[in-house]
Amino acid sequence: MLNRITVVGAGNVGATTAQRLAEKELARQIVLVDVIDGVPQGKGLDLWESAPIEGFDSRLVGTNDYAATENSDIVVITAGIARKPGMSRDDLLNTNAGIVKQVSEHVKRSSPNAIVIVVSNPLDVMSWVAMKTTGFPRERVIGMAGVLDTARFRSFIAEALDVSVRDIQAMVLGGHGDTMVPLLSYTSVSGIPVTQLLDKAKLDAIVQRTRGGGGEIVKFLKTGSAYYAPSSAAVQMCEAIAFDQKRILPCAAWLQGEYGHEGIFLGVPCKLGRSGLEQILQVTLTDEERSALAKSADAVREPMAAVSL
Ligand code: NAI
Ligand code: 2OP
Repeated sequence: MLNRITVVGAGNVGATTAQRLAEKELARQIVLVDVIDGVPQGKGLDLWESAPIEGFDSRLVGTNDYAATENSDIVVITAGIARKPGMSRDDLLNTNAGIVKQVSEHVKRSSPNAIVIVVSNPLDVMSWVAMKTTGFPRERVIGMAGVLDTARFRSFIAEALDVSVRDIQAMVLGGHGDTMVPLLSYTSVSGIPVTQLLDKAKLDAIVQRTRGGGGEIVKFLKTGSAYYAPSSAAVQMCEAIAFDQKRILPCAAWLQGEYGHEGIFLGVPCKLGRSGLEQILQVTLTDEERSALAKSADAVREPMAAVSL
């Protein structure tokens, strides 16, 4: 068990992340921080009062003050505004860049050795804002998107085949947006290539649905975006780090030449352990996947250039 995990942003994703972290007892203390007075305190207390029923001993604390977050082992940044219908992730760019910058300055001062997991959108650009502002090495700033996008992809395949989600192995790479790259060449059902089980038209439809997965939820909710699956994804990354699991998960990592790209965060297969990002795995891609990844990298570079830090 870690000593302390901080979740910044006590909104839908942040509060649900805190709940899942506590229920899995990933740290002795889970601190929930927000700028709104009373919200992190109220949600933190409410969650803590569920501990005797759920049977967890992680202590939840809600606060507006980073003093309570000192020396966190992991900080999950979910602060920002969420998408409303008709908004793209990039519409959030400048507002969230300012918020993530401010949060990262606090993290740098209060938890200089923390591993930061960024959730705020647009994800790949916000991960860069967090890395640049904290000055932390790339091993300690990782973006959450690929685990979520892959979970969506896996759940749609399981549904189409009427099989257990547990038996679907897959990996969605690239930026967290419409250009994300589900790797069909590495998607299997208990080792059976998915292309043997689903025809091209069905697979194309699943790929398209995955790319629009975030928007599909926004359309239903109308006043916000997804948070159950996103919080599960962030917590799976925390768990891999907390227990030094060496899990291979698709995460947004700062590229230094891997896959032919550098100077951007992009979703790639990562090994996560107690030191954070321990390795980027470079796998062979088909020509089609390689060019889709390059297109996705361009879609990340464009909004990045529009942010001045
Ligand atoms: P939300 O609106 O429910 O919560 C955001 C919280 O951040 C609010 O409570 C707000 O008061 C707080 N906040 C704003 N400025 C702050 C600051 N300077 N310091 C501390 N807290 C601050 O939004 P939700 O649904 O929780 O989403 C949060 C972010 O995560 C959004 O940017 C959303 O687009 C993103 N997201 C990313 C996903 C991914 O796959 N990477 C998936 C789902 C959401
Ligand atoms: C999602 O994919 C909005 O990025 C968020 O649900």
